[in-house]
Amino acid sequence: MTDTPLVQVDGLHMHFPVSSGGLFNKTHDVVKAVNGVSFDIAKGETFGLVGESGCGKTTIGRCLLKLEEPTSGTIRFNGQNVLEFNKRETAGYRKQVQAVFQDPFSSLNPRMSVEDIVGEPFLVHGVCPKAEIPARVRDLLSICGLPGRLLDRYPHEMSGGQRQRVGIARALALKPDFIVCDEAVSALDVSIQAQIISLLESLRAEFGLTYLFIAHDLSVVRHICHRVAVMYLGRIVEIGESESLFANPLHPYTRALLDAVPTPDPEVEKTRAFTPIEGEVPSPMNPPSGCVFHPRCPIARESCTKDVPDLLAAPSAGADRSVACPVTAPTPVAA
Ligand SMILES: Nc1ncnc2c1ncn2[C@@H]1O[C@H](COP(=O)(O)OP(=O)(O)O)[C@@H](O)[C@H]1O
Ligand SMILES: [Mg+2]
Repeated sequence: MTDTPLVQVDGLHMHFPVSSGGLFNKTHDVVKAVNGVSFDIAKGETFGLVGESGCGKTTIGRCLLKLEEPTSGTIRFNGQNVLEFNKRETAGYRKQVQAVFQDPFSSLNPRMSVEDIVGEPFLVHGVCPKAEIPARVRDLLSICGLPGRLLDRYPHEMSGGQRQRVGIARALALKPDFIVCDEAVSALDVSIQAQIISLLESLRAEFGLTYLFIAHDLSVVRHICHRVAVMYLGRIVEIGESESLFANPLHPYTRALLDAVPTPDPEVEKTRAFTPIEGEVPSPMNPPSGCVFHPRCPIARESCTKDVPDLLAAPSAGADRSVACPVTAPTPVAA
């Protein structure tokens, strides 16, 4: 028996209309931020979304949080079509799905104390008597490794790691099933990153949480994610189990991203043979023809400038692996 995935994203497109220019020469363009993305997330899974800045990761997260109405595609949660939820269903969904963002300083109101910040979801959703809120907040802080004496502190009086723990405590207040962690550790020092990742990991195990873990840094994703999707310019170019994907990346973009991760050894860094990906990420307003990666791809062929590669299963490279590159994908074994 296979369980229905907790989250099912199918053919998601998010095109933002934008206008630029002056009063008389206004041009109307479309930013294709997300361009046909599909993936599932199993219950209890940590699913990673990686790729350079601007490739559409946050937009996908915002669509899942119902902060953005997709141009097309479907999003299912526990098998139910999120985009067709009525008001009541949406309110219930907003309790089940929470977010932890990158910069805890900017996402936390500087004039609110820790007690107010972590207790706010209780007030907004009216799920516990006002008098009980301080005790509930104290519990949440303790779960997130913070002492109760921080209750009346303000965000600027805490370290980056403490603030991120406060953000996590707040996200946990309504006992969610699913948390979108958007660059949740990207602004932190490496040692603090490791602590927050291990906190997220133990919370997942303890409360049966499911995460969408968004990061531009592959080395972070590697440690926490079960499966990873690599994005480039609004599309998934490769997807698979984290360990096998990092050990044997197939897509030239995944390979380039992996090669760009610095190693701690300065000697290795000095002799690094690879030059990080050449050129700039093209504009999502005017994406290249064919494979969107072809202008930067070291192994592009003539056909790559014309044919849009499908994301196809490459089971010989590992369970659940799919890749959108006809050049590096293993030839399917004839049935
Ligand atoms: N509301 C918006 N209006 C217009 N363009 C947007 C909007 N939100 C995001 N974009 C554009 O969509 C693309 C993807 O952005 P984003 O999802 O934030 O990428 P990432 O999180 O991977 O850095 C970028 O080119 C960004 O400028
Ligand atoms: Mg982002």
